[in-house]
This record gives sequence, structure tokens and C-alpha cells, in this order.
Amino acid sequence: MGDASLDKFALLLETEHLLGDRIFAIGAAIATALAPIVDPQIPSTSFRTLPADAVPETVNEACALFVHLLDHFADPVHLQAEEAAAEYAIGCGLPRADADWVFAQHEQARAYWAGITLAWQRMGGADDGDRYYAVMDFRRLTEAFVFLFEAHAVRENTEFYEQASAVIDPSTDALVVSIIQHSGPSDITPYIGMVTRAEKLLGITPPAGSPTA
Ligand SMILES: [Fe+2]
Ligand SMILES: [Fe+2]
Repeated sequence: MGDASLDKFALLLETEHLLGDRIFAIGAAIATALAPIVDPQIPSTSFRTLPADAVPETVNEACALFVHLLDHFADPVHLQAEEAAAEYAIGCGLPRADADWVFAQHEQARAYWAGITLAWQRMGGADDGDRYYAVMDFRRLTEAFVFLFEAHAVRENTEFYEQASAVIDPSTDALVVSIIQHSGPSDITPYIGMVTRAEKLLGITPPAGSPTA
């Protein structure tokens, strides 16, 4: 953070990663809470069943917020903004190959999110015979997403943003900042409120100085 070699647009994206870290922590806490519910060591003679009340209500509520944040906040506010900035950097001379991994990992995240969203719908269904596997899918896909994207953010901070800043002329830095600021909803305050609510449900203390709107 605060690297003098980074343009303002890159510093803005780095700041958004701080909120991303809080969403990763929510995902990790949900996966930890779901783990004992779908402990594979529980004996089963055929297929496993799980009653609707097996998942604590607080965890269910946190799942609802997490799924909404992924689909309606993380994608439009951060990933799509970052892709627009990357396209602009490519237009300013960044080799396409340097940005390929960013686009590819974003698509991987979206694939995980589609799976997590489907698992969430199945968890709320009426079929006890599917719920065990829905909870297992939610847990595993969330773990996979968090594992990949914790590293994704670090690589962007330490590698990609430096490369993009190097090719974007400082005189057009404000243009890229504007692109990022106009991606997704104009006011992200309600989404910060959702993050804060999910943290409370899961007993997570946000990092000092975090916004809690
Ligand atoms: Fe990214
Ligand atoms: Fe990012």
C-alpha cells in the first residue's frame, strides 16, 4: 500500500482489496462453520441427508449476504472495473499476455460464484437428500474461491498494478480513476453495511479503521 510508483487508479483498486479481504474472511468463517455439519467421517450407508435446521440460522443469514455480495458487489464494483482498467492499459501498450491471468482468474472466480449461488439455492430447498451435498458444495467452492483470490489480490498489488501504472501516462490517470468509480452502483455504502452485518453474524472483528456503514 502507498507505493509511490503506482498511479492513483492502482491505489484506488488496492484500497478496494481491503474490503475484498473482509469478504474473504466472511467466506472462510462460513466454510469453517459448515465443516462440522458435513463432516465426511459421519458413517453413511447410502446417501447422506441433512435436515433444514442443521445449518444455524446465523450461518444461513451470513451465507445469504455473502452470495449477494459476490454477485452484486464484487463483480460489478471491482472485477469489471479492474478489467476496464486492464483493457485501457493494454490500449496504452501493456502486453496482452501480462494481463491474461487477471482475466482468466476473474472468470474462474465467476465460475465458483455461479456454483456457490446454486449451492445456496439448493441449501434452501425442501430436499433433505440434496441438502448435505449442497452444503458440501458451498463449503468447498467457497474455500477454493478464497484460496485463489487471496493470492490473486497479492499478485495484483505487487505485480499487475505496477505493470499497468508503468504504461498509463500520468496525464490520463484521472480517466482510469473515473472508469473505476463509475463501474457498478454509484454508492457502495449499503454493501459495506452488508459486510458489517455478515461479520457480526459470524463473530468476526473487522480490521481497525474499517468502514462499518
Ligand atoms: Fe482482479
Ligand atoms: Fe483486484
